[in-house]
Amino acid sequence: MPTALITGATAGLGKSFTRALAEQGYDLVLVARSERDLKEHAELLRAGHGIRTEVLPADLTTDEGCGRVTARLTAEPAVDLLVNNAGIGYDNAFLETGIQAEERLLDLNVRAVLRLTDAALGEMTRRRSGAIVNVASVAGLGPAWLSSTYPASKAWIIGFTESLAVSQQVRDAGVRMMALLPGYTRTEFHQRAGIPTTFPPAWLWLHSDDVVRSALRDLRKGKVLSIPSLRYKTAAWGLRHLPRPLSRRFAWDISKPGH
Ligand SMILES: NC(=O)c1ccc[n+]([C@@H]2O[C@H](COP(=O)([O-])OP(=O)(O)OC[C@H]3O[C@@H](n4cnc5c(N)ncnc54)[C@H](OP(=O)(O)O)[C@@H]3O)[C@@H](O)[C@H]2O)c1
Repeated sequence: MPTALITGATAGLGKSFTRALAEQGYDLVLVARSERDLKEHAELLRAGHGIRTEVLPADLTTDEGCGRVTARLTAEPAVDLLVNNAGIGYDNAFLETGIQAEERLLDLNVRAVLRLTDAALGEMTRRRSGAIVNVASVAGLGPAWLSSTYPASKAWIIGFTESLAVSQQVRDAGVRMMALLPGYTRTEFHQRAGIPTTFPPAWLWLHSDDVVRSALRDLRKGKVLSIPSLRYKTAAWGLRHLPRPLSRRFAWDISKPGH
């Protein structure tokens, strides 16, 4: 049975990845901070799908937490699919967030993705098989939120994933890499970040199971960027092709009072 390791596996998109991959018969390594949530969810997956599960509690904003996960990525049984999914955002403007919180965001959204990809990709290219999905965001394509480092962190994931995915070394080794760019998706993300969920109209919200189904289909097709739903494919086209000064005008400015 193939094995997948998913970060942020206890909620939202990560949880949807675990369910979809369990249905496909993957054994799973689940990573998040809360050991209790990990164990509860692992038990449900084991009972529901008859797969093997491992729980790996780790805070990926820390060196120690990343180290525990990279150690698993280079151990047996080999990990065939890595999903770098855990990520955070904030509702505060840059100058109000505080540098420690900003560094935590970069540690999770960027540094952990870098470290886990490094560990997994080394193993996968040696074995000449495997796949990595890095969860970015449509917000990473343009000036989507002003006064926020979140879109910049996701822009890094997109650039990083694309540059490795199409490189000769990775392609020749038969390893696939894909960045997933979801739009607004109903998960715990906004509640954790303190971002109001009243602003985007209902039709803009995606369901996490649909996002993951579409992502896994795109991975099978060998796509480098996966943008689930026509709504967000259109938004992504706009962010990529409209003149930057124009798209900036439509960006959500979280430094504005009462944004
Ligand atoms: N929801 C959206 O609208 C949306 C849109 C675009 C992109 N995304 C991206 O999708 C990804 C998943 O987001 P989501 O919406 O599913 O989030 P979510 O519902 O808030 O789930 C976050 C998961 O990450 C884990 N986590 C949080 N901090 C962690 C840390 N320091 N170390 C290890 N694990 C940690 C959480 O468990 P613990 O708290 O137990 O650690 C939880 O399992 C993120 O990268 C996000 O940026 C989301």
